[in-house]
Amino acid sequence: MARTSENWHVLESKNTTLIADVGGRSPSLIYWGERLRHTTPGMIAALAVRQTAKGSASVEVPLTLCPTFGSGFSGAKGIRLHRHGAAWDFDPASADVLEASSQRLSIRSVDPVHWVVLHHTVALDFDSDVLSLETKVTNEGDAPLTLDWCAAATLPIPAHADTLTGFAGRWSGEFQRQTVAQFTGAYVRENTRGRTSHDSFPGLLAHCSHTTEGAGPAFGFHLGWSGNHRVLAEKLWDGRALVQMGELLLPGEIVLEKGASYRSPVLYASFSPDGFSALSRNFHRYVRSHLLSDAARNKPRPVHYNTWEAVYFDHDPGRLKALAEKAARVGAERFVLDDGWFKGRRHDRAGLGDWLPDESIYPDGLTPLIDHVKACGMEFGLWVEPEMVNPDSDLYRAHPDWILSATTTDTVPFRDQLVLDLTRQAVWDHLFACFDTLLTANDIAYLKWDMNRDINQPGSDGRPACHRQVRALYNLLAALRAKHPAVEIESCASGGARTDYGILAHTDRIWASDNNDALDRLEIQRGASFFFPPEVVGGHIGPRLCHVTDRQHSMAFRAAAALFGHMGMEFDLAELTGEEEDVLRAALDLYKQKRALIHGGRLFRLVSKPHALAFGIVSEDRSEGLFTYAQTATRAESVSESFRFEGLDAASRYKLELIWPQGLQARSPNALEATAETVISGEGLMKAGVQLPLTMPETALVFELTRVD
Ligand code: GLA
Repeated sequence: MARTSENWHVLESKNTTLIADVGGRSPSLIYWGERLRHTTPGMIAALAVRQTAKGSASVEVPLTLCPTFGSGFSGAKGIRLHRHGAAWDFDPASADVLEASSQRLSIRSVDPVHWVVLHHTVALDFDSDVLSLETKVTNEGDAPLTLDWCAAATLPIPAHADTLTGFAGRWSGEFQRQTVAQFTGAYVRENTRGRTSHDSFPGLLAHCSHTTEGAGPAFGFHLGWSGNHRVLAEKLWDGRALVQMGELLLPGEIVLEKGASYRSPVLYASFSPDGFSALSRNFHRYVRSHLLSDAARNKPRPVHYNTWEAVYFDHDPGRLKALAEKAARVGAERFVLDDGWFKGRRHDRAGLGDWLPDESIYPDGLTPLIDHVKACGMEFGLWVEPEMVNPDSDLYRAHPDWILSATTTDTVPFRDQLVLDLTRQAVWDHLFACFDTLLTANDIAYLKWDMNRDINQPGSDGRPACHRQVRALYNLLAALRAKHPAVEIESCASGGARTDYGILAHTDRIWASDNNDALDRLEIQRGASFFFPPEVVGGHIGPRLCHVTDRQHSMAFRAAAALFGHMGMEFDLAELTGEEEDVLRAALDLYKQKRALIHGGRLFRLVSKPHALAFGIVSEDRSEGLFTYAQTATRAESVSESFRFEGLDAASRYKLELIWPQGLQARSPNALEATAETVISGEGLMKAGVQLPLTMPETALVFELTRVD
């Protein structure tokens, strides 16, 4: 049955329209998709009138932004709460629009019988087409209210978006995509690892089975939260479908006293009629304009040299200084001292918690090394893991009760470390003081903020505390950033286990994976690129023999994989041959020349093949582009295919140049020679494409396109 009210509110962005029915007791979305230019909300409502089927309720219960038990909705509820078993059937009696503009809708709905108030916020960013939605629930009754679940929002998805792509993974294999045909019932991904996780990134795509990178409808959803979460897509037996995401609350985790509120994390969502790449560009634009700080946006991202895979825990100031000198010579602009610098940290079984330089290695503190790094012309960055403690540490010996744990069972062993209970004020204050002092006493431009275990048993004083732990972490990061605004922070968690917009709002980049194998990394970066723009994704050239896969790749191939992110190096520079060093220097130079384009342009993921992976970045004004075609395996055919570019201006002419790898030998005449002296239309480059040169597997070609008219 149609909603009877005629109280609609329309939100509009550059390419999308969202229509909310705000006349009922709870708001619901009657349209979200491609921008409507000739259609009124009344038309949409009329078009949407649904019959009721035999064997069902005579009136179809509406799918609102927050379906409740009280409303009688039989699909996934947006909220579950009770007061000692009562108030379970809470349902708002009225909804008041507090704020309504073409980009923002804020609605307060009240259940006056159970004294529960919901506050929904829906914001649609005009330029990026990204929606951000959150729900706040407040207990206005006298008795405490137990909240079991409060989704950020429940969004209807149309029947033609009948395919789901979710994200799976593991340590060193993050952001793997899994596609399933939507079925009647629920697709549910629940994460209780206490961090965003390697295996269940809170992102989801809903699309047609024929949607590709370059065409077709695609809805994207991501929960900006760094703790437990539930991702749910459900198709009801009446044909309606929904997506719902929120924080997965542990039993009894949220009990609201009178006047207290719970605010959900933000659900980010977007729609594009033009395929997955266009959808990702929406998210990239949003990250750039809303999540990154002005400082991060405006400063060219410096080339990193990270010490981890070069020295691990074997710190020796002399060797580190020599590495710094060499790193600077080949082109590094920031030297990041990774794990192993602090008291007792000679291996991963001790030291976490004691954030003072180890006197046996650094008798005069870090200053001599920092001064040396700066004298080499680089910034200094430092690895820290503030939320953790090793039992073998002074901190733990002094405060064994400062950890999160279960009441009766032993803590799950995990890298010999325990999680500090940030919800205790004393712990939070201690950590703030520690890192404030560290940043005040040392000239540190960058922190690699790591988090190397799941929080399997997040108990504090016998109560679950995962929610409060994440909020306390965000507050800690915010407080340190407020005090030290020039310090950039990277979010790392055994690679990419804390990659989400919640943490990104408090940091500047993420470490996508501990896997620096170029072949694997290209796939991981491709997965991350669905929601994250290249500049926030750290990518390092690893050792010649990859420490994770035991595979060897040429410097040119490793460099090409790292080029399209925030580039760095992470290997012992002593292993460089003269030839490798030349290639490395050239790659870092290329990054410096092209980083403004890579970090500000529009990403086009091109269709991947069993033997190749390709993508490109084109400047906003389409005057330049950088495309890569990585041949990842042996081809079935003897001659390479044509490579069709995207995102160019069809009517403009471009100079096409193969700029990587340098000195590629061609044994017979080829298209690149044939086009060297001429300019080609964008149309020709996109419609016909260029015949690729013959290459060996594990070769990444990089093409530069420059508009000439
Ligand atoms: C994690 C990180 C690595 C490295 C080590 C140090 O695994 O992901 O990059 O910093 O910790 O212990």
